[in-house]
Amino acid sequence: MSLPSPWRADFPAFAAFTASRQTYLDTAATAQKPQAVLDALLDHYAGGAANVHRAQHAPGERATLAFEGAREKVAQWLNADNPNEIVFTRGSTEGLNLLAYGLEHLFNAGDEIVISALEHHANLLPWQQLALRRDLKLVILPLDGAGDIDLQQAAQLIGPRTRLLAVSQLSNVLGRWQPLQPLLALARAQGALSVVDGAQGVVHGRHDVTALGCDFYVFSGHKLYAPDGIGVLYGRARAMAKLRHWQFGGEMVQHADYQSARFRPAPLGFEAGTPAIAAAIGLGAALDYLGEQDEYALAAHEAALHQRLLTGLRRFDGLRLLGEPHTALASFVIDGVHNADLSHLLGEQGIAVRAGQHCAMPLLHGLGLPGAIRVSLGLYSDGDDLERFFAALHHALDLLR
Ligand SMILES: Cc1ncc(COP(=O)(O)O)c(C=O)c1O
Repeated sequence: MSLPSPWRADFPAFAAFTASRQTYLDTAATAQKPQAVLDALLDHYAGGAANVHRAQHAPGERATLAFEGAREKVAQWLNADNPNEIVFTRGSTEGLNLLAYGLEHLFNAGDEIVISALEHHANLLPWQQLALRRDLKLVILPLDGAGDIDLQQAAQLIGPRTRLLAVSQLSNVLGRWQPLQPLLALARAQGALSVVDGAQGVVHGRHDVTALGCDFYVFSGHKLYAPDGIGVLYGRARAMAKLRHWQFGGEMVQHADYQSARFRPAPLGFEAGTPAIAAAIGLGAALDYLGEQDEYALAAHEAALHQRLLTGLRRFDGLRLLGEPHTALASFVIDGVHNADLSHLLGEQGIAVRAGQHCAMPLLHGLGLPGAIRVSLGLYSDGDDLERFFAALHHALDLLR
């Protein structure tokens, strides 16, 4: 069974990859874009680019309608209460930095921010630096044996001093869904704000931020088959109202004189300057595209392919998987082989995988590893990609051993 992907033909990059004999297995780093997204970008520019929210001419109106239409699509995709809860950012990293600055005034020395041991640097460093600026304590939730945030320990560590909890929905290294509902309930019980890093999670299935009950949720467009340079910060209206403005300039201001200014609320108050208009429209097109697909067929394809990835990897002598990933990716090390040597040899054979510390240095150090290889799948990945990868891995190991 070759496990073909019915979606592959929608992604023009695979024609180029086939021509250059590349096998792309690094979707968790960034995803390829469907033709529908490329068409939306071309349509925006070829139809006449204009800035948004400023102009009263027809091109400006057209751009504004498309840009705000994309915001509505994101709000619907996440089941937010309304589009004002959606701020466009540059990506997850910018969303998390925005939060760490925008919420800074709420913290007093000795307050605690709780994250977990598996966070991407994007959901560690902004909080770490905030803690250093304000003399706060950064509390790290440990993982259990399966590589998930340990709920028993979380119940001990999330307490009356906790002012904010920030955790990943799906680990970019271990590929495991984290127990968000109970963690968010623990934070709520202490009156703490909650932030979910949805950078990886948002890509797999539909996620309902209202049902989840988080205060903030961030993700990046480029991992969700949309252009890079665009991301989303969702904030429930009550939580969003606590944010202090962080970047200042055009369009985020209600009134300005030389000595003072009054700023707009979200979303425009947090989108100073000209936003990534085309990329936002592209994100809307990516959501349209995904929304048109059979989500059950898509989930079934991802699950079957993931299973085949795990089964194939387990056949290699000396290969150790980092945990038992739930979906879409697998990270591994091989006894006696350095991940950089291996990824180099895979790269030479046209196999694109990720090697190193995956922007999660403390996690890798905690596992006692200098790095690992990560293979990750998208809806366009197919069984032949995996066969080429397994063959290349065999060949690389023959050379290295
Ligand atoms: C879990 C997680 N959080 C945050 C990020 C940062 O995303 P970006 O680089 O798009 O801002 C990533 C990117 O790999 C990620 O995997």
